[in-house]
Amino acid sequence: MGHQLNNLKDLYILELKDLYNANKQANATTEKLHGAATNSELKDALERSIKGTNKGNEHIRAIVESHDEKPTGHKCKGMEGLTTEAEEHVLKGEFGDDDVRDAMLISQYQRMAHYAITGYGTVEAFAKRLGLEDDAKKLGKCKEETIEGDLKFSQMAEGKNGINADAMA
Ligand SMILES: [Fe+2]
Repeated sequence: MGHQLNNLKDLYILELKDLYNANKQANATTEKLHGAATNSELKDALERSIKGTNKGNEHIRAIVESHDEKPTGHKCKGMEGLTTEAEEHVLKGEFGDDDVRDAMLISQYQRMAHYAITGYGTVEAFAKRLGLEDDAKKLGKCKEETIEGDLKFSQMAEGKNGINADAMA
């Protein structure tokens, strides 16, 4: 399975590929979640997330290619699990109320977002240790933007007039 990992640089490239594939899978599912969402603020946030994730993947692709590798050819099993779960819960679930579906949607979306945040954090730390300052800066920025986006989802869910409150009855 794959080839031997000899050093931190090898791990770095593998983790970048994993995140690249995870982002692709997450975006395909987020498109579907966008179609299932009702709240217009939530729909907008999902759209921004899709754009941000695509932008992040452009950075990852450029970084991987700058190390004479390709970002493709690796499948992230973790994200495969998360997207399967998200689609089952949101698209195949039965809901008596749109707000309840939206609340479920946020909970599933955030699981995927957190995978990306931890992925960016890991490759940022590896890049720093490897002395790849430019890579680290770009990946750190992607991490920050993903954290910021994720926070919006928490606010939409948890606010006094938020989606979780709407879902109560
Ligand atoms: Fe993974």
